[in-house]
Amino acid sequence: MRNSSTGAKLGNNDPCWCGSGQKYKRCHQSRDLLAKLQGEEPGKPSSFRPVKPGALSAPRPVPERIPRPEYALTGKPGARIKDVIKTPDQIARMRLACRAAREVLEITKRAVKPGITTDALDAITHQACIDLGGYPSPLNYMGFPKSLCTSVNEVICHGIPDSRPLAEGDIVNLDVTIFIHGMHGDCSETVGVGAIDPASQKLIDDTRACMLAGIGAVRPGYMIRDIGRAIDARAAKDGYGVVRAFVGHGIGERFHQDPQVPHYYDPSATFAMVPGITFTVEPMINLGTWKHSSWEDGWTAVTADLKRSAQHEHTVLVTERGVEVLTLAEGEPQPFAF
Ligand code: MF3
Ligand code: CO
Ligand code: CO
Repeated sequence: MRNSSTGAKLGNNDPCWCGSGQKYKRCHQSRDLLAKLQGEEPGKPSSFRPVKPGALSAPRPVPERIPRPEYALTGKPGARIKDVIKTPDQIARMRLACRAAREVLEITKRAVKPGITTDALDAITHQACIDLGGYPSPLNYMGFPKSLCTSVNEVICHGIPDSRPLAEGDIVNLDVTIFIHGMHGDCSETVGVGAIDPASQKLIDDTRACMLAGIGAVRPGYMIRDIGRAIDARAAKDGYGVVRAFVGHGIGERFHQDPQVPHYYDPSATFAMVPGITFTVEPMINLGTWKHSSWEDGWTAVTADLKRSAQHEHTVLVTERGVEVLTLAEGEPQPFAF
């Protein structure tokens, strides 16, 4: 393989240095030419350099009038809730919280463009939550310093918004959770920044397909492990790595509660899906290895081989007939019978 960092000349029809398998002319050639004009090292546009931690802005305050989750002051989540089957009243409040999470995610997504910092996206999410009358759930959850998780390129999850501007060609996961009506609603999407290479776009699309395959396995009488089995099968088609260290989770009055929802096939995940339980399905899918390493900030998880990772997340409810996706946009049709 050619050494991408020396800028050795690639022919128009050679495979691109990024590993997409596409011809260079269809992939990074135009971006490399642009980068050269701007004085950057050829063959390594900023979106293909490893992500480095930036500077954090001052903490963002939440007005007194906003009802807070139990950990807001101390950072410590409350005791485990044993009863995971929700009442009709709790379900009604979950629907509202999840709809609000989607609204905030859509607002934040619309701000993504080359040059905006992840900290500016955090400011938008923070204010959008407050405007709806909700609390941005990540803020001080186990000490997390910001209101949004922003996971760029090889960052798998739990990226902390900072001073790094997004670059054309980056991919970024925006993970929004809001506490409102006494419930948490949780959803995320990975989006491209400006024009992105075909392998990254395919990764994003396939990750969404993996999430939907997992949600398609949600129905009463089945077990949580059926979700991971479906995701594994979908991801295997393209040889992706399915992250094992981070899982979906029950959700409600608590940000994270039982059950744990592995996205790979784990035969021990025999928790029964019964009507009235709510949890997230949020697979993290990697172009390379499923293994990760962690930054010293104690939060940011990156792929061990620094290849890119994408994630999509919905909060779902098990119903008598199947599954209701709670974090759809208003008017968006349910993907499965419910
Ligand atoms: N929203 C993430 C999830 O899907 C959790 C973020 S925890 C935080 O589970 F502390 F990083 F915000
Ligand atoms: Co989330
Ligand atoms: Co989640």
